[in-house]
Amino acid sequence: MITSGAKKVSPSILAADFANLAAEIHRLENAGADFLHVDVMDGHFVPNLTIGPPVVAALKKVSKVPLDVHLMIEDPDRWVADYVDAGSDLITVHIEAAKNPQAIFEFLKKKKVKCGITLKPKSSIESLYPLLGMVDLVLVMTVEPGFGGQSFMEDQVAKIHWLSEQRKKLGLNYWIEVDGGINHRTAKQCFEADIFVAGTYVFKNDPAVAIQNLKSI
Ligand code: DX5
Ligand code: ZN
Repeated sequence: MITSGAKKVSPSILAADFANLAAEIHRLENAGADFLHVDVMDGHFVPNLTIGPPVVAALKKVSKVPLDVHLMIEDPDRWVADYVDAGSDLITVHIEAAKNPQAIFEFLKKKKVKCGITLKPKSSIESLYPLLGMVDLVLVMTVEPGFGGQSFMEDQVAKIHWLSEQRKKLGLNYWIEVDGGINHRTAKQCFEADIFVAGTYVFKNDPAVAIQNLKSI
């Protein structure tokens, strides 16, 4: 668990060249990526469709860094085992989609896969309160899930602060991750987060410089 020290960066491969994923992953590893953020979308929970378990399994074969899998899908309860089998190291599900989050977390713990919970910008952060003691990570979305390249929603930053306060108050040690519109400027507002997800910022710049900028926030 991260409690202090340098920030971690989880580049989102949504902004990568999908025809050259292995090469893109090696580029990110050499640039200092701590995780690979894998955005799974089903065309139902969000209005976009990306990749499923076979592609996650292919990524796992070439990645030296852990796979941070963000499930933006309906009924993750039904699908989570497939993403475990595909080699995910950390799986984050949406509170709006999970029917029985506790059962998902228990299953993931049994499988030795780290578990995370997240929420859409319109959902209240307090809705996560009963789950805070069960998770390894809480992900704050700073864009509406579905697409890369959107603008950072400043009004979501208070959720990061709330999570940091609760972590202290409750003596917990979950990671706080933030995802959506992150760059060297917006990340500064999210200084209480431990892990920055960034797609556009990493791929539209020199990944090594972008990742280093985020790590030194
Ligand atoms: C949005 C995804 C994000 C997205 C981030 O639904 O969860 O991970 O890829 O992309 P940028 O950094 O471009 O906002
Ligand atoms: Zn994501």
